[in-house]
Amino acid sequence: MTDVASLSIENGIGVLTIDSPPVNALGIAVRRGIDHGIRTLGADDSVKAIVLICGGRTFFAGADISEFGRPPEEPTLGAVLDVIENCSKPVIAAIHGTALGGGLELALVCHYRIAVPSAKVGLPEVHLGLLPGAGGTQRLPRIVGPETALDLIVSGRPIKAKEAERLGVVDALAGEATLREDAVAFARKVVEEGRPLMRVRDRQNKVDPYRGKPELFAEFRRKNARAFKGFKAPENIVKAIEAAVELPFEEGVKREWELFQELEPSIESQAQRYAFFGERGTARVPDIPSSTPTLPIAKVGVIGAGTMGGGITMNFLNAGIPVTLVEMNQQALDRGLGVIRRNYENTAKKGRMTQEQVEQRMALVTPTLGLEALADVDLVIEAVFEEMGVKKDIFARLDGIVRQGAILASNTSFLDLNEIAAATARPEWVVGLHFFSPANVMRLLEVVRGDKTSKEVVATAMKLAKTIGKVPVLSGVCFGFIANRIMNQRAVQADALVLEGPTPAEIDKAIEDYGFAMGPFRMIDLVGLDVLGRGEGERTVMRDLVAMGRLGQKSGGGYYDYDEARKATPSPVAAQAIADFAAHKGIGNSGSQSDEEIIARLLYPVVNEGAKLLEEGIALRASDIDMAAILGYNWPVYTGGPMFWADTVGLPKIVAKLKEYEVRYGEAFRPSPLLEAKAAAGESFTRG
Ligand code: 3HC
Repeated sequence: MTDVASLSIENGIGVLTIDSPPVNALGIAVRRGIDHGIRTLGADDSVKAIVLICGGRTFFAGADISEFGRPPEEPTLGAVLDVIENCSKPVIAAIHGTALGGGLELALVCHYRIAVPSAKVGLPEVHLGLLPGAGGTQRLPRIVGPETALDLIVSGRPIKAKEAERLGVVDALAGEATLREDAVAFARKVVEEGRPLMRVRDRQNKVDPYRGKPELFAEFRRKNARAFKGFKAPENIVKAIEAAVELPFEEGVKREWELFQELEPSIESQAQRYAFFGERGTARVPDIPSSTPTLPIAKVGVIGAGTMGGGITMNFLNAGIPVTLVEMNQQALDRGLGVIRRNYENTAKKGRMTQEQVEQRMALVTPTLGLEALADVDLVIEAVFEEMGVKKDIFARLDGIVRQGAILASNTSFLDLNEIAAATARPEWVVGLHFFSPANVMRLLEVVRGDKTSKEVVATAMKLAKTIGKVPVLSGVCFGFIANRIMNQRAVQADALVLEGPTPAEIDKAIEDYGFAMGPFRMIDLVGLDVLGRGEGERTVMRDLVAMGRLGQKSGGGYYDYDEARKATPSPVAAQAIADFAAHKGIGNSGSQSDEEIIARLLYPVVNEGAKLLEEGIALRASDIDMAAILGYNWPVYTGGPMFWADTVGLPKIVAKLKEYEVRYGEAFRPSPLLEAKAAAGESFTRG
């Protein structure tokens, strides 16, 4: 019938199957297929009811995100949904995989829904800076009530079929392997029992009780103000659900569409859509085709049970992969295991895991004191002290112990991977796997490709990242790789700027208003000045503060003073230390600066460093740099990351400012040739 749609009629039940890999996104071909299929079956007198089902791995995964920002093609999603809802015969959605966004909205215009137990349904548009724009904000509250709808749509959290059934979103559960048959049987029952055409739009009983009661929404806004900061979509979602309560259905749908249209062209939504594709694009490596063979990773060894090693270990346990965990002495090993167990038990206390699962995961760890136990693992990850001598020694020993054909990885965050690899006779098997703290939480995994790392090893690392729920970003070898190298620029500039007049609180506020959870000085105080300013070296403010016993939050003061409740207040003592150090350096105080100036000073150098990474071939693409910043440093996703943000600011403006800084402060600020060339040519890093 069409390329993506096929029709069959079984004993009076029409079955419309849509198959458009990979995820049946509701692009133009799919919309045409549904439109045509429903109309055809609707007009066929032998058909009494219609089952709408998808082939492949999932029910519709939503609108086709790549179509946003382009002129709509007919039939629009809204028009197709109307055809289904207004069909004179019952239409039954048969759901497997995920019914997300427009996919769930489509299911909600069907007259009944049946799903396999493993299916999930949800409205995740918020993650794209959007709201459900095809009736989702009007229909879902009519089934689950506005309170649950607020929770589900603002969080974007998908729910499992069973919960969906409990909430009434799904009418029945099918057998896991018998969706089609069960859906047809369900349809036949609907026909035989003469059940009505259930239209969610006509249901008012879940929303009516809330009409004229704005408190629910006011309270929701108040409670979530912090989490919403910087994002546009959550507020519009709240408004749309309010409309579902206050307005008749047709008007509510109109309001929803207006609110959707406000969001679609916004920078925030563009940035989040860019991040959606950016995240999925990182695993593509031009010279490593997707057909490259990968190695099975069934057993992992981790060396070092400290904070990093423990977090790394948890990733594998969570994925059901056994880990041999090696430490130098029993005490450190016990401590490390204790921390892992406590982490799981805390999760269990919050109800997000059962005690049985805690025990299952702990049972996957084999603690040991000797590297010899790593002889037969498939992958070793070294996560010991950041010192070249120590790492080389470990790799040389591993070379003699670990079986040939296993991958030897280092979690180094700054050191030269090629030098580490050269300590072995098999550098092609050595790769960097750089996790970000807390390693069991942060989604970035930098895969560092050494000069000799084999393609199979890189391909395996990229695939493994997905298995453990990480987003891999490939990096060449350089000091700090991608995320640390760019973000170090921010730290360097914060340290320099604080000597010129702006206070730690002013700098932190500018950065926090930009969208980072914590400004650089609060962050230093949290981590500990002694930790960050460790070791001997030339005099710095940080070292001066450490010498004064100001180690950060833990000692009651660092760049700020802290009370018992760890509340920060600007510190006169720290201010004096900063002024003394500035005087020692001969730097005059030129007073406060605007937030815009502070942001330019701290973040334009990050952009410039990103451009250098591209120039040097350390990063493959600008979006990889953005994903590294977003997923490794919580760079606010609604700005799109440093390179996308730079494009929105305008590269000529950034270049001009960097040149100004170059004159004032020196050549460290000189714009990279790539940045300058792009600015001059009117090009961008991330668009077009
Ligand atoms: N539009 C366009 N492409 C999509 C897409 C969509 N909605 N969803 C997934 N894709 C693409 C991905 O980019 C990827 O392409 P690639 O292979 O070229 O990289 C491919 O499909 C497979 O996707 P994943 O790698 O993410 O596959 P997974 O199996 O890991 O996950 C999924 C499947 C859970 C469906 C996940 O893809 C997903 O969450 N998709 C987005 C769902 C979503 O946000 N839907 C709402 C869209 S907005 C909307 O509907 C607006 C409406 O209200 C008007």
